[in-house]
Order: sequence, then structure tokens, then C-alpha cells
Amino acid sequence: MNIVILAAGMGKRMNSALPKVLHPLAGLPLLAHVINTARKLLPTRLVVVVGHGAERVREAVGADDVAFALQAEQLGTGHAVAQALPLLDDSQPTLVLYGDVPLTEASTLQRLVAEAGGERFGILTVEMDDPTGYGRIVREAGSIVRIVEQKDATEPQRAIREINTGIIMAPTGHLRRWLSTLRNDNAQGEYYLTDTVERAVADGIEVVSAQPGALWETLGVNSKVQLAELERIHQRNLAQRLLEAGVTLLDPARIDIRGELTCGRDVTIDVNCVFEGRVHLEDGAHIGANCVIRNSTVASGARVQPFCHFEDASVGAQGRIGPYARLRPGTVLGEDVHIGNFVEVKNSQFGAHSKANHLAYVGDATVGSRVNIGAGTITCNYDGANKFRTVIEDDVFIGSDTQLVAPVTVGRGATIGAGTTLTKDAPADKLTLSRARQMTLDAWKRPVKQAKK
Ligand code: UD1
Ligand code: CA
Repeated sequence: MNIVILAAGMGKRMNSALPKVLHPLAGLPLLAHVINTARKLLPTRLVVVVGHGAERVREAVGADDVAFALQAEQLGTGHAVAQALPLLDDSQPTLVLYGDVPLTEASTLQRLVAEAGGERFGILTVEMDDPTGYGRIVREAGSIVRIVEQKDATEPQRAIREINTGIIMAPTGHLRRWLSTLRNDNAQGEYYLTDTVERAVADGIEVVSAQPGALWETLGVNSKVQLAELERIHQRNLAQRLLEAGVTLLDPARIDIRGELTCGRDVTIDVNCVFEGRVHLEDGAHIGANCVIRNSTVASGARVQPFCHFEDASVGAQGRIGPYARLRPGTVLGEDVHIGNFVEVKNSQFGAHSKANHLAYVGDATVGSRVNIGAGTITCNYDGANKFRTVIEDDVFIGSDTQLVAPVTVGRGATIGAGTTLTKDAPADKLTLSRARQMTLDAWKRPVKQAKK
């Protein structure tokens, strides 16, 4: 099939410089959600109709399988679909979606596609308690005969609760013909896509309907209020799926997933965690409250304490991280590694059973196994122009408040005395330290305030 996504509208009520369809839901532009759903239907042509902010929209969601049609002026939904016609394949029917309706399930669209087939006109409709504002589905003897817009509807028509979600499917050749005959002599002075229904009926084309699995699948975004509502619905759905898969969420209303979170068995996630990009939590992983985890992996049995921040990092099995630990891109921690409070690790690997428990910066370092990095240790990896590596071999003990001026290597089993500024390699198995000798000045007297004259 062809799929056309309408995304030319301005979204005035968003009160924003950003085109409406680029506002993010779960970290992804609204339009990207619609495109992803469209892809699941394997369309032969996928066309996005752009108008307001066309360039930005193209840049944000452009891909090899997406074509764009420009609707320079927003003259109505029928006019919008007409702009896509040159890019459509007449041998396939066309499904029309809206770029600001992000949560439609592919299974719902598949039902509509199955109903409409290649020959019929299909409309996704839904019954609403309050249908105000929507196009009403007018039926005669049970069959759909037309759609009337709210502003053009008579009182009895306004009482109809079955509405047009906007999602339709029609044979492309017919659609092309019907669209060419549209007029804008209606209450809004627009070319209505919905007027093609009457034309289908006149041509003896059967008009059928399908319904979504849930009402929220058809909700659109016109304001920040509606965007926030849909975000909550989406997050609730994602949390529900995790619970059903056996994940423990201490409060399913307090988790945010902006990307893809996959979990093994017996994973526990405490409140207010944000997961971005691709995150995988292996069996038995435990994530404490208020963590932000982006594109990272936490291996089995690891415990992440509250208030940690990870990006492009991997925590080894049985690791103990945080509270207040920051793992930056390129951090790879082995089994049973402990990273404690106020420790920042960047582009560094830690071997099994190594620890940096307090107040440290470890950047561009290769840390062996069973290493202990004392409080206040800093790898001086940057000279203002270039970055250099620090190598800390197995079984090293780094005393507190040590600066490791890279490039530098600490040999296997070495001990570095507290307060050392290490500028040369430290040999294996020895104690190395750089420290001014301690002295006591017996004759020294603490100054006293002089009496004012
Ligand atoms: C439309 C339907 C209405 C339906 C409702 C569902 C028509 C005439 N009416 O009404 O029956 O109940 O959606 O939400 O189709 N767009 C363009 N170019 C345009 C006009 C619109 O790209 O010239 C896009 C908008 O950006 C939006 C979508 O089409 O994504 C719907 O447009 P909107 O103006 O919201 O349609 P409604 O008047 O709500
Ligand atoms: Ca609308």
C-alpha cells in the first residue's frame, strides 16, 4: 500500500517555534512515532506531507524510505493528500495517517487495511461520549454515506457519537479522481478529505469502518496539555508491558522510558528513573530511585543505588554503583566492580573486583582487577590540548588524594602513597610516593592580635 502522513499543520496552540509534529513524545518526535508505525505495515510508498517548518521536519525525520510532498498553503486535508498524489502508486490502495496522532497501534491499522482491502473505502471510526469538534459519521440503514464536519453539521448530526478519527484507506486511482473534484464551499473554506466519502458512495464504492483497540490510539496533539496527557498514557502502557513481563516497578506511574528498555528476569526499578535510548538490564539487576540511564547495560545481579547517571556505559555482573555515581561514555566495568558516591568514570575499563568508592575522577584509564582507588584520586588525562591514558595494573592500591598525570603506568601490585602526584611510571610491587617530608617547627608561635594604639 501507499501511506500518506499529513504533517503540514502549524500547531498554533502549541505556542512554540518548533513545528508541532517535531514535539517529542517519549523522547521521539510525534511524527517519528507515526513513521515507525507506518513502517510496520511495510508500505511500498511512504509520503509525508510537510508545510509549516517543512525544512526542519525533513531534516528531523528524513530517511531513505520516506518521501516528502510540500503543501505550501494549508488549504485542508483533501488538498494535503492531493499534494502527495504524484508520489503514489495507483496499483496500491492508500492509507492516510496524521503526523500528530502518535499512538495508533499497527494492529489497529492492520484491521482497517483488512476491512478496506484494495477495493473499498475504509474509515477508522470511534464512538465518543463527547464528539465535539470531530467529523461525524453519517449512516443510512447502517451504511456510511458521508462525514460531516462539526462546523457544517446540523443539530441532529451533532448528536451522532461515532466520529472520524481522520485515518482512512481508499483505492488510489479513485482517490485521485475524487480529490480533483473537491470544492471548498463549506464552513471552513477548506478542501475536506472527508468529502471523498460521498463521492465513493456515488461511485458505488463500498464504505466500511474499523475501530481501534483503545480510544487513546486515535488522540491527536494540538496543545501542550494534550501532549502531556498522551505522554502519560504512553508511559503507562510501557510500564504495563514491563510489569506483565515480570519486572518489579515500585510505582508504575513514576518511570519514564524514552527509547527501548529491555529487562531480564527479576529486575527491580525504584521510582523516578529515566531510561533513554537503548538500555538493557540483565537478570536480577536493581536500579535505585532517581537514576538516569542512557544507552547502557547493567549486568545480572548488579545494584545501582539512587541518583546515578549513566551514558554509553556498561556495568558488570554483581556491580555496586552509587549512590551519586556518574558513568560517562566508554565506561566498561567488569564483574563485582564498586563505583561509589561522587565518582566520575569516562572512557575507562575496570577489571573484576576493582573499587573506586569515593570522590574520584577516572578518565581514559585502563584499570586492572582487584585495584583499589582511594578517595580523591584523579587521573590528569588532559593537558588542555590532548588526552592521555593512565594504566593501572592488577592488584594496585592507590592511596587517597593521588593525581596520576597521564600518560603514566602503575605496575602490578604497586602501592601509591596518599597525596602523591605521580608523573613517572610506578614500578610493580613497590611503594611509590611523592610527598614533602613532614616537619614540626618547635620554635613556632601562633601570632596574636596586637593591641590597638
Ligand atoms: C479532521 C477531519 C475530521 C476528523 C478530525 C480528527 C477533515 C476535513 N476533517 O478535522 O473529520 O474528525 O480530523 O482529528 O479531514 N493538515 C495538513 N494540511 C492541511 C490541513 C490539515 O497537513 O491543509 C494536517 C494537520 O497538520 C493534522 C491533520 O491534517 O495533522 C488534521 O488536520 P486538522 O486541521 O487537525 O483537522 P480537523 O479539522 O481536526
Ligand atoms: Ca485535529
